[in-house]
Amino acid sequence: MLEQIRHIREEFERELRESADAKALEALRIKFLARKGLIAQLFEQLRTVPPDEKPGVGKALNELRSYAQSAYDEAIGQKKSRSADVRLDLTLPGRPKPVGTRHPITQTIEDLKRIFAGMGFGIAYGPDIEDDYHNFTALNFPPEHPARDMQDTFFISKNVLLRTHTSPVQIRVMKAQPPPVRVIIPGRVYRNEAVSARSHVIFHQIEALSVDRNVTFSELKGTLVSFVHQLYGSSVKYKFRPTFFPFTEPSADMYISCFICNQKGCPVCKYNGWLEILGAGMVHPNVLRHGGYDPRRYSGFAFGMGIERAALLRYGIDDIRLYFENDVRFLRQF
Ligand code: PHE
Repeated sequence: MLEQIRHIREEFERELRESADAKALEALRIKFLARKGLIAQLFEQLRTVPPDEKPGVGKALNELRSYAQSAYDEAIGQKKSRSADVRLDLTLPGRPKPVGTRHPITQTIEDLKRIFAGMGFGIAYGPDIEDDYHNFTALNFPPEHPARDMQDTFFISKNVLLRTHTSPVQIRVMKAQPPPVRVIIPGRVYRNEAVSARSHVIFHQIEALSVDRNVTFSELKGTLVSFVHQLYGSSVKYKFRPTFFPFTEPSADMYISCFICNQKGCPVCKYNGWLEILGAGMVHPNVLRHGGYDPRRYSGFAFGMGIERAALLRYGIDDIRLYFENDVRFLRQF
């Protein structure tokens, strides 16, 4: 009887090795493990074994049955996972990962940096949190100037505030290095205004400062005209209009012809054909002095423009709030 058990075990092992697929394994199960299978038949024969041999034979039989059952279970597990592999179709196209795009404000800043780098400007940055001195006093704002009013400025304390423009970095740059200086200064600025399609409490500016011996207003104009032609195309018309800033003298606003309606009149140019794009001027002697430069030896120009507005004109965006809402349906278009 023990001899028979060993034979059946060998037979099972051999057939298991030869079972290549699920069908063969099923045949194996029926032959050995089913209710009328070879192992069950051996258990039937156990009745005829003499009583003194029964414990040994019973033990061997039990071992055979549990060995065969677990070997079969294992084999079927492997066969299952192997047939799962077959369902992996390597010829299917992959799932594309969505690629992000840079924010339209970032893209516009990058383009402006490139244009001004081509005209010899480096890049400087300053802090968003400023003090009254850099944001106002050093820029020649008189003590009672309305721009210091709580209406426009987010004050953190009496002397600390969120910068209302990038011009305070002019002072920081001049203090940090001797002339000549030629930099652009991109950054965020903050104003305490009601949020609407046209204005926001946060926006971006790009400032330019160029100081050297004999820097003239015509150099400022030449720089701006070259810039405008590079950003908006060479067919765009421009004009300068005198204005006032405490930190420049003389000062001018620059306008370009509305390329959206070709000066026929549209909501973007408010039906007058011109778009104001930046403020500019010759750096005020007091500002040069606060920067540590001698205004009798050096002169300079500066200008500052809103980036949201520049991007708005490039992309035809009619609501400044869209830039700050992080709506991917908006952002995906750029
Ligand atoms: N700082 C001014 C503004 O915020 C812009 C400006 C910068 C004007 C430099 C002249 C020179 O409106």
